[in-house]
Amino acid sequence: MTMETIALASDHGGVELKTLLAKQLEGAGFAVLDLGTDGAQSVDYPDFAVAMADALKQGKAARGVLICGSGIGISIAANRFAHVRAALVHDAYGARMCRLHNDANVLVLGGRTIGPDVAKDCLDIFLNTEFEGGRHARRVAKLAENGER
Ligand code: RB5
Repeated sequence: MTMETIALASDHGGVELKTLLAKQLEGAGFAVLDLGTDGAQSVDYPDFAVAMADALKQGKAARGVLICGSGIGISIAANRFAHVRAALVHDAYGARMCRLHNDANVLVLGGRTIGPDVAKDCLDIFLNTEFEGGRHARRVAKLAENGER
């Protein structure tokens, strides 16, 4: 059986949480594609959003997790790509809704704003919740159309 690969990327504000989530993913039977960063040295979050967008575009992973200090900058950067639907999530409700209604393919977390257990819960829900489709599919299709303007 082939393992699904989940891509992970963060800036220095999210590197600690990224390490924790990589362990969670491996424990749950996923392969992890770690796109960096790999240390506490200050880096620019848009570079890691680009790395994620490229990995998804190239089919290296279908789903991913992005982390920066607040989660804000890296989600703004990631959502500039029409094929990325990155959802900044703070709790279980958001993790569930971003899958049910928005078909988010990237979970975004704030390394400085979320506790480790809540983050792990969010990741678990994100990975295990299916898109509802129906009327939400029409709206999600419009997201990509808007990205082409
Ligand atoms: C880095 O200090 C910080 O600005 C970044 O991680 C993020 O929070 C930006 O939105």
